[in-house]
Amino acid sequence: MNAIDLLKKQHREVEQLFSRFEEAGEEAEKTRERLCQQIGDALAVHAEIEERIFYPESKQENTEELLRESVEEHLAVKRLLADIMQADLDDPQFDAKMKVVKELVEHHVQEEEEELFPLIADSCSTDELEDMGSRMQDLAQELEEEGQPRASIPGQTDSPAQI
Ligand SMILES: [Fe+2]
Repeated sequence: MNAIDLLKKQHREVEQLFSRFEEAGEEAEKTRERLCQQIGDALAVHAEIEERIFYPESKQENTEELLRESVEEHLAVKRLLADIMQADLDDPQFDAKMKVVKELVEHHVQEEEEELFPLIADSCSTDELEDMGSRMQDLAQELEEEGQPRASIPGQTDSPAQI
C-alpha cells in the first residue's frame, strides 16, 4: 500500500475511535476503557511507523521544518497519553485530557494531510511510496502482534524522535 494512503487510513481509524469514545456514555466504563486503550495502541503504532520510516525517509530541504514540528507534536501527544494511561477513568479531568489529546491529533493530522503529504507525494515516485508503505505496514503488523503497542509510550516522553 502507498505510504500516504496507509497513514491517511490510520488517521480515519483514530478519528473514529475518538468519536466512539465521546459517544460512549459515562456509565459505559468498560467501553470507555477499551476505547482509550485502542486509541493509545493506534497512536503508538502510527507514531512509530512515521518516526522510524516515513519521517527519516521524507526528510529533505522543503520538509525538514514541518517534520521537526511533527515530532514535537508527537511528543506532546505521547506525554498526554502517558498521563491518561495512569489516570482514573472517573477522574473529573479525564474527559478533558481526552479532548485535548483529540484536538492535538486533529491539528497534527490536518497539517500532515494538507502540508506535508503533498510535498512528499511530489518528490517521491509511486514505487518509492509503495515500497515505503509496505515496510510501514510490516512494522505496524509486527508491533500489533507483539501486543499492547501503547506500553512503549511512557518511555518516549523525554525528547522528540530523531529525524
Ligand atoms: Fe504523525
